[in-house]
Parts: sequence; C-alpha cells; structure tokens
Amino acid sequence: MPDAVDAVDPPPPRRKPKPARREIGGRPMKPSTLMMGYGYDPALSEGSLKAPIFLTSTFAFENAAAGKRHFEGITGLREGGAEGLVYSRFNGPNQEILEDRLAVWDGAEDALTFSSGMTAICILMMAYCGQNDVIVHSGPLYAATEGFVAKVLSRFGITYLDFPAGATRAELDAVLAKARAQAEAQGGKVAMIYLESPGNPTNALVDIEAVSDARDAAFPPAQVAAGGSTQECPIAIDNTFLGPLWQRPLEHGADIVAYSLTKYVGGHSDLVAGSIAGAKRWMDPVRALRNTMGGIVDPNTAWMLLRSLETVELRMQRAGENAAKVCAFLQGHPKVEGLGYLGLISDPRQQDIHDRHCLGAGSTFSLFIKGGEAECFAFLDNLTIAKLAVSLGGTETLASHPASMTHLSVPQARKDMLGITDNLVRISVGIEDADDLIADFAQALEHV
Ligand SMILES: Cc1ncc(COP(=O)(O)O)c(C=O)c1O
Repeated sequence: MPDAVDAVDPPPPRRKPKPARREIGGRPMKPSTLMMGYGYDPALSEGSLKAPIFLTSTFAFENAAAGKRHFEGITGLREGGAEGLVYSRFNGPNQEILEDRLAVWDGAEDALTFSSGMTAICILMMAYCGQNDVIVHSGPLYAATEGFVAKVLSRFGITYLDFPAGATRAELDAVLAKARAQAEAQGGKVAMIYLESPGNPTNALVDIEAVSDARDAAFPPAQVAAGGSTQECPIAIDNTFLGPLWQRPLEHGADIVAYSLTKYVGGHSDLVAGSIAGAKRWMDPVRALRNTMGGIVDPNTAWMLLRSLETVELRMQRAGENAAKVCAFLQGHPKVEGLGYLGLISDPRQQDIHDRHCLGAGSTFSLFIKGGEAECFAFLDNLTIAKLAVSLGGTETLASHPASMTHLSVPQARKDMLGITDNLVRISVGIEDADDLIADFAQALEHV
C-alpha cells in the first residue's frame, strides 16, 4: 500500500519563470510597485510568496547536454551567452532578483551587486583601467575611493586628474584636454570619468550634463564608433547620497551609476553592500572581472536588500521631510554659522545644478556650528536621539565630526580646499518624529 509520501502527485517538471511584467493597462508600473514582486516567480519556489534565501555554492544541471550548452555559452562557442545559474561566485537567485530590481530604480538595462560599495567601485575601476591610463574624477570623493585611485591604481601606472565638484564647462574642457595629453604621454588612454555628487561631506553637486557634453566633445561618439584614435570613456557616478530616489544620473548623461547600498537602499544600518547599474555593454566587463575575483553580495544580504527595497521610497521620503523640518529649525539658530543642505543652497550655480538634476534635497547635510572642534564635540556629546556614528541613510539619525573622524588623515591643505572645517558636523536624518529630533538638536546646542 502506498504511504502518504508516495501518494503525492509527482512534482511538475522544471519550467521557465513567468515573464516579468513592467506595465499594466498600457501604463509603466512605478518602481515602488515593482519592488514587491518584480523578477520573482513564486511557482519556482514551492509557491513561497517571498523569495527564499538560496544558500548553495553550486547549481545542478538537468543533464550533461545542458551542462555542455551552458559552458558553450560562457566560452563564446555558442552565440547568445549562457543561461541559468552555475556557481555562486558568479550569481544566485537572490542576487539576480536584487539586480533586476535595482536596475528598475535607475532606469538601467542591467545592474550588478557587490559585497560592499567599495568592492563595487574598485572592481568597476579595475575593469576599465589598463596600465598607463588616466582617470579624471570630481573632488571631493569618498576618502576610500580617493585612496584607491591615488594609492592603489597608481601602482599600475594609472594616474589621475581631479576637478572641483562645481566645475564649469570651460573648466571641464580644460581638465579633459590635459588628461588626453597626459594619457598620450604615458602611452595609455583616458579610461573613465568618475564623479561623486553630491560630494561627501560638503554636499557640492557636479553638473553631470556639462560633464557629459565635455566628454562627447573631447571623445566624439562618431569618431569612437568608427574606431578612431580615441576610445570610449564612460562616465561613472557615485549616487549614494541621493539615490535611488532623489537623483537619476543615467537620465543626465552618466553611463554607470554606483552605490553603497549600505546607506539609503539598505537603510537600517544593518548590512554592507554595493552595486552598479547601466547599459549591459557597460556592465559586461565588470561582471567578467567580478566572476574572476568574486565580490558579489551574499544571498542573505541580498535577501535583506530585497526587503529594504520594498520600503526605500517611504523611508527616503520621510527622511527627506524630516531633514527639511530640522534644517528650517537649525537655519535660524544663534549657535549655528551655516548649513550645507541641498534644500537651502546659496550659490546660484549649485542651485541651477540642483534644479536640473535632483528630485529632492536628501537627508544628509553639513551643520557648521559657531566655534570649532570643542563646540562640535559639546554638541555631539549631548545628543540623545541622534547617535554618534559614521555612515548615513539609516532609519536612525546619525551625527559625526568629519575633520577628526572620517577625514582625519586628509592633509590640512586639502581639507581647507574642500571646506572640511573643524566646526563641521555631518548629520544624516532618519525617520524618527521630526519634533523629537528638533528637541534633541535644540537641547544639544544649549550645551555649546
Ligand atoms: C559616498 C560613498 N561612497 C561609497 C562608500 C563606500 O561604501 P561601503 O562602506 O558600502 O563600502 C561610502 C561609505 O561611506 C560613501 O559614503
């Protein structure tokens, strides 16, 4: 007599996932809708509404011919590339769903995830730079990114030129002309223009459209397509501070957008991860290097990020509203010298860039307290709700003192140039009650 297990119908044969729909009634679905299910078919996971965490290092082929077909695709012996999953250093189901959903936010064709923002940035740069090449970058950059360019890539003969975040078209043309000459003298190419906007911790914005125009003028696309002497020079941008909600750089001429997902996207200060997104042709060399080196985000963190993405719009909206209220209070305070907040820009050129590129003012800003380090420390040591910690973009409010913490090792002359003064406190506003936060800042300022 068959037992209960034998009596169960045999499982249906493996099938392809349902095609993911991106529009309804002729209307494209918004990212906030797509975050709940896009890229995942419950029927492939026993009907589980949410994607399970796939903890496996390798994936079984249906038969030997399928294995052969896969490797023919990988090695280029068969056109169309490889389908399906084979080994977890390359990809896995959680990471694939996450990459599909991240691409949605930036309107990108493809995305890649990494174990940290820095892994994403380092592998991206290594994928595009060869020996004797030149990188042109905006300044300031996140300190570890600047360090990677200046101290690590330089070991392979790669040099750099930087320009201030607010550079005009004329200044951009000049730096690209200089970079071309430098590359020719070194026997390399201008490999990449790398931006960070707004810059950390000053919030200075880069004119992405002007950079794109300057790049197209310096390396005319038609000449590049015809295989002329110049080569493609992608524009990559670190969009950690405003993305994915408040700035969509691919719409303004950037080719590749990079993130520390540790910040707003993860959003709960409980994970470390990174990503890049852009057209597939820009992603492919980076994917190939990631396949070789490793560095993909792990399945558990990818799952946490899928959960985070369901609320990223809500969290960022609330944090943005809170920051506007907090800054309105701080702006007129007698102990406050000024604010580096994108909702209260005083420079008309920066305001123009903000108007053209940004959909919000963010929730991370600089607070300049009257005085110096001692006054800032008194303020920080008396905060009750806000925690004294580096990082940003979490549900909780964080405050730090860049001059003595994240930027301590930056030479004084460069700090002066970048406006990283002793009286600067960086604040990342979270999603607490805005009036509670204002009360906390008010009482901490009384101790200054
Ligand atoms: C603007 C920016 N980019 C990149 C990074 C690096 O990201 P991760 O810490 O996830 O490696 C950070 C981290 O603070 C950052 O603020």
